[in-house]
Amino acid sequence: MDTPFPPVHDETLPPVVMPFCPIEQKLKGQKALVTGASSGIGKGIAIGLGHAGADVVVNYIKDEAEAEAIVAEVKRCGANAYAHRADVSNEDHVRGMFARMFEEFGTIDILINNAGLQKDAAFHEMTLAQWNLVLSVNLTGQFLCAREAVREFRRRGVVPSVSCAAGKIICVSSVHDIIPWAGHVNYAASKGGVAMMMKSIAQEVAPYRVRVNSICPGAVRTPINVEAWSTPEAYSDLMRLVPYKRIGEVDDIARAAVWLASDESDYITGASMYVDGGMTLYPGFETGG
Ligand code: BGC
Repeated sequence: MDTPFPPVHDETLPPVVMPFCPIEQKLKGQKALVTGASSGIGKGIAIGLGHAGADVVVNYIKDEAEAEAIVAEVKRCGANAYAHRADVSNEDHVRGMFARMFEEFGTIDILINNAGLQKDAAFHEMTLAQWNLVLSVNLTGQFLCAREAVREFRRRGVVPSVSCAAGKIICVSSVHDIIPWAGHVNYAASKGGVAMMMKSIAQEVAPYRVRVNSICPGAVRTPINVEAWSTPEAYSDLMRLVPYKRIGEVDDIARAAVWLASDESDYITGASMYVDGGMTLYPGFETGG
């Protein structure tokens, strides 16, 4: 797995040495589906779950070769995996994806609702197509996948030899589920929607021992925000928004996801976990305001 430490454009900090290598396979035998898993955060989480012992469905929409490479990495660690092409905003695709998962893996224990995109525009120029695409993938896609997963969790119930919970859903949200974002109104609205959808589902399904939480990443080094970190000038501008003074890496998110999917976090449901180097701490007040 590529782990681009130390941060490329910041020579002032000591190198961060944190290889992703869980000592115990805390998700051994669990069946996971990661949407949007062929790049960025989804890719990191799929590999992290595989390293932790879970069998993984690697959902992708475009990059089949990359999805197959992730499948190979999960298998190299001894878990099972396959790639499945599906558009999460399409109900038939989602149904088909879950039906195949139940055939191949028997059930689902962990859903990582990750697929998401940005179509940025100044608000007065934003088209309905840009609005609809972002809302349908980022929000409706999470609804469709969560609904299929909850149906299976309720049908099957808790299997104590597998997990204390009947199922775990992790919604990949964003710091922009609470930080407003000019120029990205569709994206921020979708993530704000994810926040309340997640909490409302969590409240409804908790009695069935289903846990539903969000991970809310800040600026993470992925293709979605390449202009925010790929030049020294952009990187140093970005650091004004990050009290911890380094960009996030996909492994930072993957480690949080593995923990949140494991029984170590069994009493946590309905929580938004900000993994953001302090981006949500009002960094403008760092020096007293
Ligand atoms: C967005 C990134 C952005 C980050 C912090 C994420 O949700 O996808 O483009 O860099 O939030 O602003």
